[in-house]
Amino acid sequence: MDDIKDGPHGAGVHIEEGVKQSSGGGFLSDFQARYAKVDPASYLRRPDESGFQYWGRRLGSLKPVELLLAEYANTELRQYLNWWQLIFIGIGAIIGTGIFVLSGQAAAQNAGPAVTVSFIVAAFASGFAALSYSELASMIPVSGSAYTYAYATMGEFVGWTLGWDLVLEYMVGAATVGVGWSGYFKKFFELFDIHFADSWTEPTVIWQENPARIYYEEGHAFNVPGFVVIIIVTIVLCIGIQQSSWVNAVIVVIKLIVVVMFIFALCGFVDKENYNPYVPPNTSGDWHFFGAPGIFAAATTVFFAYIGFDSVTTAAMEAKNPKRDLPIGIIGSLIVTTVLYIGFCTVMTGAAHYTELNTPTPVITAIEAVERRTEQSWMWLKVITILGALAGLSSVLLITMLGQTRVFYSMAKDGLVPAIFAKVHPRFKTPYMSTILVGSITAILSAILPVDLLGNMTSVGTLLAFFIVHCGVIVLRFTRPDVERWFKIPGGRIFFIIFPVIGMVICVLLIAVAEVSTIWRLFVWMGVGWIVYFSYSIRHSKLHRDPIGRFAEVHAHAEQSKEEVYPVQDYDYQNRS
Ligand code: ALA
Repeated sequence: MDDIKDGPHGAGVHIEEGVKQSSGGGFLSDFQARYAKVDPASYLRRPDESGFQYWGRRLGSLKPVELLLAEYANTELRQYLNWWQLIFIGIGAIIGTGIFVLSGQAAAQNAGPAVTVSFIVAAFASGFAALSYSELASMIPVSGSAYTYAYATMGEFVGWTLGWDLVLEYMVGAATVGVGWSGYFKKFFELFDIHFADSWTEPTVIWQENPARIYYEEGHAFNVPGFVVIIIVTIVLCIGIQQSSWVNAVIVVIKLIVVVMFIFALCGFVDKENYNPYVPPNTSGDWHFFGAPGIFAAATTVFFAYIGFDSVTTAAMEAKNPKRDLPIGIIGSLIVTTVLYIGFCTVMTGAAHYTELNTPTPVITAIEAVERRTEQSWMWLKVITILGALAGLSSVLLITMLGQTRVFYSMAKDGLVPAIFAKVHPRFKTPYMSTILVGSITAILSAILPVDLLGNMTSVGTLLAFFIVHCGVIVLRFTRPDVERWFKIPGGRIFFIIFPVIGMVICVLLIAVAEVSTIWRLFVWMGVGWIVYFSYSIRHSKLHRDPIGRFAEVHAHAEQSKEEVYPVQDYDYQNRS
């Protein structure tokens, strides 16, 4: 607190007073003042501090909200997106492999027709997360997604942990979508009796859940379509098509038409017998497979289908009125997709028996089941559905891979990953090195690994990310009540906590019901991340290597900015070193 009072200008004192007023003083106000402190010098080692204390303190040091807001105030991006365009961006990132592929596999392997209930359970997990994301987005409208929020709320170590975890959501997620794309690509040609050999269109290895094992499938070399589509997306991202909102809008409309058409075309051809039993009895003695618990195991898998609403926040800098419209975009896109998913799954599991749906293209399997029953050709619906799915999956790929490169970009700017990730192409103005690296790894993952393995890793990784975001909302409510929020989780100063806490419980439950081997893989991945952090990132963090310079850099930009969103704390950089 003394640091703030000692500061040469008045802004620090102003924040401290705001904090005091809102909390009534005492322990909480001291605590809050620590978070409201925007003193670059506080990142330096104090003369009286032992090495152990200093390094321990570094783990929890925050990237101040003011620094983020100044970055927002200085954006050179055009701010033109309105609320419905943001909803479209959300839908563009959400509808993809989850509904077009994993829904059928989860029905066939874990839940039967009750996979629709699994979608409802997963919608709750996403809904609570959407509330937390909305509050954070309306408070700190910057891109960089959950990594940025975690750095600002819980310090560098948690920020790093989340950034590393997001690789599962974005990079492994994109690989999953690549495999889904490949399945629909192959199926499209099969409609016209053109058959590609499995050796070049299937992943190299197969994943078996029960008993858990991964093995090489004789004759399967490489999933070429999955590999190629990701390389194409990588090239597009390197060249940097402006992510034009109208192109996205067209693809989203196509996706929505396909989903709605599937529901309405087939709802009259549902065979009620397929719903019997709605919750198939457990088969193998392992609770993951059918019965009521199987519904929850399937929920972890199909949770993948909702991932993407958080990508609305990556457009934060380009939104016209981000504080109001980001929450609308996040929550709106989630509501629209939840309603569609429930209709879609109900029709799909009614059209075909759930045991038939374990295919790379369950939607087409469902249409073919109706063809057999009605003895009519539904070729037109199959063609439209596949083309719509391919377009839709491509847009998900673009958005998720873009998300990954931007997270690495933000981390590189903070010095937590090598600067090469922030290297911008002189002509295309895109972070091309990070895009090439992300694209190459994603393409290889997509070529060799199966969709269920990748999808489950993505789901548990994202659930962990949501868990940390919920913590972030709670922490910020108590530590930074002074920063304005356009959207607040309902419930007032204390009872709002019910929502993020329930959200956290659901995240933990859904992680816990995942396959044990998936949970182990999550631990191993996080363990590798912590090794990288302690051996590299902690030493290269810019906030610690050169805090004064880092603040001065943003401060200098803020001075030039005409539009004052939030003032960065004034600081006499020259005289305080
Ligand atoms: N929700 C996105 C999908 O299902 C990631 O493909």
